[in-house]
Amino acid sequence: MSEQVAERSDMWSNSFIFVLAAAGSAVGLGNIWKFPYIAGENGGGAFVLVYLICIAVIGIPVMASEIMLGKLGRASPIQALLNLARTHKRSTGWSCVGYMGVLTGFLILSFYAVVAGWVCYYILRLFSGEFSGADASTVGEAFGDFLADPLQVLLWFSVFMVVTIFFVARGVTRGLELCVRYSMPAVFVLLLILIGYGIHAGGFVESMAFLFTPDFSALTPQAILIALGHAFFTLSLGMGAIMAYGAYVPDEVSVGTTTFTIAILDTVLALLAGVAIFAIVFANGLAPDAGPGLLFETVPVAFGNLPGGAFFGGLFFLLVALAALTSAISISEPAIAYFSERGKLSRAQIAVVIGGACWVLGVGSVLSFNAWADVKLPFFDWTFFDSLDKITQLILLPLGGLLIAVIVGHVLPKHVVYEQLGLEQTQIQQVWTYIVGYVTPTAVFCVFIIEAIREILTHM
Ligand code: PHE
Repeated sequence: MSEQVAERSDMWSNSFIFVLAAAGSAVGLGNIWKFPYIAGENGGGAFVLVYLICIAVIGIPVMASEIMLGKLGRASPIQALLNLARTHKRSTGWSCVGYMGVLTGFLILSFYAVVAGWVCYYILRLFSGEFSGADASTVGEAFGDFLADPLQVLLWFSVFMVVTIFFVARGVTRGLELCVRYSMPAVFVLLLILIGYGIHAGGFVESMAFLFTPDFSALTPQAILIALGHAFFTLSLGMGAIMAYGAYVPDEVSVGTTTFTIAILDTVLALLAGVAIFAIVFANGLAPDAGPGLLFETVPVAFGNLPGGAFFGGLFFLLVALAALTSAISISEPAIAYFSERGKLSRAQIAVVIGGACWVLGVGSVLSFNAWADVKLPFFDWTFFDSLDKITQLILLPLGGLLIAVIVGHVLPKHVVYEQLGLEQTQIQQVWTYIVGYVTPTAVFCVFIIEAIREILTHM
């Protein structure tokens, strides 16, 4: 081990724990809140297919690349890229990808924590039994009333932010493993219960048809960009979160196996959440394109009408909040790790400063659903919340992912990459280089260009 590695206080003790941590990062609101509602807004089946293709062709190679860069650079993403550039005599300018990741993480956390705050409030709401026997319209109204009250939303957003800062301040490994080890299988079981409700209440077959029968006429070019951006978002790629975690991976851990495990876990959970939520949608005659409120307008209806629903519903939102917490911790890790390396402030101080700044920015997203609902970005008609969501998901994450693929495919010496990945056969080496060096960057680039042209044309 190099000196730099030895200096690091917390390495994952083995590959299983790394997989747990990375899966904890990947599985979060992206799977349970976001995937179902964007699939609903973009017509279902065809969108889901494009999303799965993006995971396979773009997400998996970029994830392997990030883990590898972290492992090779053994530092925060910014410093890891600097270390690698110096070692291999490449331009240190590539570290800009690390800086961009820090900024992206900051922007994402500010709105992610707002939605996580909604989830926290719903823990109490379900446990209290408020939704027992409630129908869909009562549940929908209850969510609308909550969002309309900026102080309530601000309160729960602040609660989530404080909890996140607390865990971030204490360091990466502690607690994370425990949380993921038990909460992920539990989320899985509760989603199965929800699917059971769907089978019983009658929305299951329609839900499967909606998600898995591709109707390409419903697929817009923008939906392709959304699917691409979501592939990055849901796998925590393109901003250095997985790279930062990769820096703590012991040498003997296989990049390939861990990458596939994480990607499969994440995808299975998203699909299950989708099936569960659309079963509730169709069983109750709701609209699939309800937008960001979808989770909160459907799941309470199901639990409200199941025996023991108050308890299981409260538990469900508690587990979703934990999943959001393990993701939020990883979103901040590139920045925290970088400033910790500077050595001027303690980890706790940095967590408070960054978390505080994120909180200030998050107030804009809190207000987007009430006082500032009409304040829109000219041209795009996006609220403050929408703007942060779209700019990160549609531009910054794919761009970061593209640059990471270019670094691994073209900038680093090939033998270093092959050695890290354990690729020995020439043919497999060629396939890897072809995918990460050409297919992945070209695919992201093409989607960008098509979307840019479309935007220009529609606004002309
Ligand atoms: N992957 C997380 C989720 O699906 C969100 C996330 C995005 C985490 C970017 C880290 C980096 O909820």
